[in-house]
Amino acid sequence: MNFKELCERRYSCRAYESRPIEAEKLEYIQECVRLAPSAVNRQPWKFILVSGQPELGILHECYNREWIRNAPAIVVCCQNRQEAWVRPCDGKNHADIDIAIAVEHLVLAAAEVGLGSCWVCNFDAPLLARNFPLPQGYEAAALVPLGYPAVPATEKKRKPTEDVWETR
Ligand SMILES: Cc1cc2nc3c(=O)[nH]c(=O)nc-3n(C[C@H](O)[C@H](O)[C@H](O)COP(=O)(O)O)c2cc1C
Repeated sequence: MNFKELCERRYSCRAYESRPIEAEKLEYIQECVRLAPSAVNRQPWKFILVSGQPELGILHECYNREWIRNAPAIVVCCQNRQEAWVRPCDGKNHADIDIAIAVEHLVLAAAEVGLGSCWVCNFDAPLLARNFPLPQGYEAAALVPLGYPAVPATEKKRKPTEDVWETR
């Protein structure tokens, strides 16, 4: 599978089998995330792999959708704005960019090993901050359910290249 095929294979999976994920696959994903680049190599992130109760139940409350309940694992992807690089000329904090790259490594690695995943940012962040303890200084940026897909992928809808790219 080349990189384009991997990009095509990854999709937002919203139906999971409940069977557990093999430890080797999780370790492979963890290593791919660890290798992600970040501004000034700050690596301002932490990832919490959640597969047990009551933690899964707390996350389900923070993202109250039926489809996420079957996923055998959810990764809480956290960023630390204090650790992230800040561009001196305008003060732009790069934590959002860094965590996005690492999370994309996560979902692409998951797709490579045959697992479904979905970026989830529309969770109740204040509720999560209250009920799901995170390491000091970290905030949850995304939840990523992981598991074997229960239904096939849907067709990708994307803007055409000419709407997205320009050449100068
Ligand atoms: C930053 C980000 C946040 C997202 N948040 C959610 C979400 O909260 N819930 C959800 O069901 N999908 C979420 N998605 C998935 C997008 O809807 C999805 O990636 C997009 O529709 C393209 O579909 P595809 O991933 O199947 O190619 C999110 C995706 C990204 C990149």
